[in-house]
Amino acid sequence: MAPEGPRDRQSDASRNPAEPARASRSAGSRPSDSPPAELPRIETLLVLGASGDLASRLLLPSLGQLLTVEPDRRILLVGAGAEQYDDEQWRTRVSDAFRSSQASGDAVDELLSRTRYRSADLTSDDGVRSVLDECEGAVAIYFALPPAITFKACQALERIGVPNGSVLGLEKPFGSDAASAHELNELVQRIVPERSIHRVDHFLGRTTVLNLLGLRFANRVFEPLWNSTHIERVDIVYDEELALENRARYYDHAGALVDMLQSHLLQVLAIFAMEPPATLDEADLRDAKSTTLRATQVWGGDAAGSSRRARYTAGRIGDRTLPAYTDEAGVDASNETETLAELTVEVGTWRWAGVPFTLRSGKALGRKRREIMVTFREAPRVPSGLEGEAPANVLHIALAPERIALELNMNGPGDPETLSREVMQADFDPGRLKAYGEVLRGILDGDPSLSIRADTAEQCWRIVEPVLEAWRAGTVPLKEYAAGSDGPASWRTSVRTGQSV
Ligand code: BG6
Repeated sequence: MAPEGPRDRQSDASRNPAEPARASRSAGSRPSDSPPAELPRIETLLVLGASGDLASRLLLPSLGQLLTVEPDRRILLVGAGAEQYDDEQWRTRVSDAFRSSQASGDAVDELLSRTRYRSADLTSDDGVRSVLDECEGAVAIYFALPPAITFKACQALERIGVPNGSVLGLEKPFGSDAASAHELNELVQRIVPERSIHRVDHFLGRTTVLNLLGLRFANRVFEPLWNSTHIERVDIVYDEELALENRARYYDHAGALVDMLQSHLLQVLAIFAMEPPATLDEADLRDAKSTTLRATQVWGGDAAGSSRRARYTAGRIGDRTLPAYTDEAGVDASNETETLAELTVEVGTWRWAGVPFTLRSGKALGRKRREIMVTFREAPRVPSGLEGEAPANVLHIALAPERIALELNMNGPGDPETLSREVMQADFDPGRLKAYGEVLRGILDGDPSLSIRADTAEQCWRIVEPVLEAWRAGTVPLKEYAAGSDGPASWRTSVRTGQSV
């Protein structure tokens, strides 16, 4: 099929009467309320920034995995970026990426036989038009680009228009504060309807995050306890052994708070704490998450008192010796970038009032700890005659590996009058697709349930903005921790207790 010319594209409203008026819609209006019009199937995946690290390390391997699991899927892959590749060099890159995820089968072979690449300036109308002209039918346009270039490419798309039924996939960070996220929302909503905008958060594609839905809403035993009457606190922790990994250009301006808490961990909190949705339709699911995040704010309204930050110094992790963060290539120490961030928030609803939710994530830590840890309140009374401690039950929902563990107090085995701590643990199959594969499937099928809605993207900035301001004003000290340690020893979350998952 010949590439469509600009006249055929979606910006020409007269060619696309099914599409609702876009210009005046703002984030927070309920864009998903209108029933989705029948949209054409996505025929092309256009990756902007295809020569970059994100594409080769995550996107393309996941695409390969998706095509292996779904061999009937047909998609034209078009890569575009600043690098000069001919189609053959590009095909080799794609096939190397596919090999890294053991991708094979009919859909993979078909894609490799047709994939193409165009070198272009993605900030100019001509550049963007030239890559769109390589596409067929409705296009999933994936921006694997730095935010500033993404913004310019979107401006170009607004002027040029996109083929009817096209969708956009946008990586984090989505804006740099609530105002810029709002501006970006308005821009992308002028290109396609909200339902066709996929603000990607790969944590929403993780099996264990999705499993929270089944765990909470398909069992009788948890949901009645899922509230402030029974839960004392919730810790959502994502500690990594990975350090900077040559990402200074991005990370030294983001830091752990923006890189992990503002995006991924608030999404996990939303699914953990939301009210039961009636269905898993994008509207029900995303409304429930949004309501929860709207009710969320820093603990006690005190940004400085509820947040902590730290940065790693030199150390060892296993057999790796790491330099101090400030000695890593490309880092500017005066940016005072934190590599470990912690924030306690409250979800101001009847269900959760008074329960602290602590989000923590950092790099170069001594042990990988990636879990939601739910600490219940202690049993109100243990009968006289039972000896020993009865600490609070703790439920660990591991985000990786896929595991759930419940710490219980039991009188047995051994002396039936003495309590001991036992752990009930279940390990899960990791699922057929990695997180990015799930996300890509949603994009290619035009199903936005696993992506972040406009209003939610702004809410997540609203929640962390007071913290960013307090940190900029220097009211929260930047602590240090040695690479390979568990973080600053004075932090409650650095102390190893109970079961480790
Ligand atoms: C990314 C962050 O979004 O998520 C990284 O930018 C982080 O800094 C990564 O390491 C963690 O996710 P995963 O799935 O790679 O463990």
